[in-house]
Amino acid sequence: MVIAIDGPAGAGKSTVARAVAAALGFTYLDTGAMYRCVALAELRGAEHPERAEISLGERVLLDGGDVTEAIRTPEVSERASQVAARPEVRRAMQERQRALLSDGDWVAEGRDIGTVVCPGAELKVFLTADDRERARRRAEQIGADIEEVLADQRVRDARDREREDSPLVAAGDAIEVDTTGLAIDAVVGRIGELAQSVRSA
Ligand code: DC
Repeated sequence: MVIAIDGPAGAGKSTVARAVAAALGFTYLDTGAMYRCVALAELRGAEHPERAEISLGERVLLDGGDVTEAIRTPEVSERASQVAARPEVRRAMQERQRALLSDGDWVAEGRDIGTVVCPGAELKVFLTADDRERARRRAEQIGADIEEVLADQRVRDARDREREDSPLVAAGDAIEVDTTGLAIDAVVGRIGELAQSVRSA
């Protein structure tokens, strides 16, 4: 079974997806980390960064080296948003993601899981939160200025939503959850309930 959790940065996807996966005993897939690895490979000079070897788990490995922290810098965030708009990069990542998701129970987090990677996912959730709230969460996490985070976030959001290839949009059959002002536990509980009802249906 696949639970797809899509939505913009800062909506709470990672925290929620990890917690739901842990609660249900499913495997967590952070597809954003894959685009971040491609971005870092390119920043390091790779000619075909989409061909890099990527391994996700407790630690993120790029061509065998641990890049768990290195893929979270603002420079990589910016480049990831650019590489993620390129069709050859998307094709390569989507193919790898589909191969992983074809077997077992997963909670997969991203932008296009419910629409493109896994349109047959048994449960699709689209998480949102208002702009300022998302920027505030992110600024708190990385210790940055909220106005700067908000400005960068708007640029990357627009790129994600307006790109031609698999733009960020809720699937028609996704359940939208606005996490503004909601405690993460409440969101995790709600998705857990939805998953149980899909499983027992
Ligand atoms: O979720 P994140 O911030 O780690 O994602 C990094 C970048 O990758 C972000 O610009 C959006 C993009 N992305 C994407 O286009 N499709 C996905 N399935 C996941 C992430």
